[in-house]
Amino acid sequence: MFNVEKIRKDFPILNRKVNGNPLVYFDNAATSQTPLVVINSIVDYYSNYNANIHRGVHALSQEATDKYEQARIKIQKHFNAAKAHEIIFTSGTTHAINLVANGFSSLLNKGDEVVVSAMEHHSNIVPWQMLCERTGAILKVIPINQEGELLIDIYQDLLSEKTKLVFCNHVSNALGTINPIEKIISEAHQVGAAVLIDGAQAAPHIVANVEELDVDFYTVSAHKVCGPTGVGVLYGKEDWLNKLPPYQGGGEMIAEVTFEKTTYAELPHKFEAGTPNICGGIAFGTALDYMNAIGFDAIALYENELLRYATKKLLEIDGLKIYGTAKHKTGVISFNIEGLHPYDIGSILDKLGIAVRTGHHCAQPIMDFYKIPGTVRASFSFYNTKEEIDILVQGVIRAKNMLQ
Ligand code: ALA
Repeated sequence: MFNVEKIRKDFPILNRKVNGNPLVYFDNAATSQTPLVVINSIVDYYSNYNANIHRGVHALSQEATDKYEQARIKIQKHFNAAKAHEIIFTSGTTHAINLVANGFSSLLNKGDEVVVSAMEHHSNIVPWQMLCERTGAILKVIPINQEGELLIDIYQDLLSEKTKLVFCNHVSNALGTINPIEKIISEAHQVGAAVLIDGAQAAPHIVANVEELDVDFYTVSAHKVCGPTGVGVLYGKEDWLNKLPPYQGGGEMIAEVTFEKTTYAELPHKFEAGTPNICGGIAFGTALDYMNAIGFDAIALYENELLRYATKKLLEIDGLKIYGTAKHKTGVISFNIEGLHPYDIGSILDKLGIAVRTGHHCAQPIMDFYKIPGTVRASFSFYNTKEEIDILVQGVIRAKNMLQ
């Protein structure tokens, strides 16, 4: 049984006040809140077995190594990857995408084509533009319709034997659209292109089965799924990870170093130079355990109900327009009120204790598409309630009355 009041007790931050009002946290697409069990796993690490991993024979180092590698296996199982070494720890999705984009520098030639969707976060645009600058490859863009859905027919037309890579998010951070990644992946594979799916915004709502999807690369950040910031993973098919050169040089990623030649370690270590975010990786595993215990199906069902309720209530406000009305969406509502600046609305909401994100959401091409400077974005999580949505709606009405 999904019991939101019980779940809310797991999150100490939900008890705090902001500007004298109880916190209403609707900025979950930026970062999720952290349950006590994850906070405790961080405290436990630093209190009891803080040590560097893969290096020491001493007990603390071995304990930390075991816990870190167990977390890798938890993440492998969660995403149904075939092998634990296909899970590379990174500092987050941005790092993971840059790792792949950098690796493809030596695999692309002038005139090769890479295809990206028009609804990407800057982190899934800029690294590929930099790759194109380095290699002379050409960036092609899959357009979207007014609802914020990809135009799949045009995508199919963009693909050819020149296409080497396709990148797309699983869920749009700015609009909440759930993209048809099964189709995107299978169409790309028909022309021999590799596919990277940015799963940062999908991971809190949908469990991607990377084996079933047959995706080549999938990226996730822990802090979107109740874990800490500064840690995430890149899933990559073993063959691809073996083909890509290392991203960073340093300790742990080598087999042997001499001044004449260095050879590299096996996967996953080849891509994990330097001391990683050990505690973060372990806490990431704890966060997935926590969310799995609630159940992703129950979470999706509950969040859909919040989305449906909030959409209905917000649309009752005169002059309010929602951007991103795709049929398949997660709990993200990007909106504006005619004649008002999103920043002003966000500032008044903040005074009322309501946290939303305002601006372009690191997705400027989408804002350009809708010809707006930005939006107010409310993004829901499984620990939010309908009562909080009522508070948001009242806050937006109040902001509207004050600003108009
Ligand atoms: N990518 C995060 C967001 O959409 C930070 O807010």
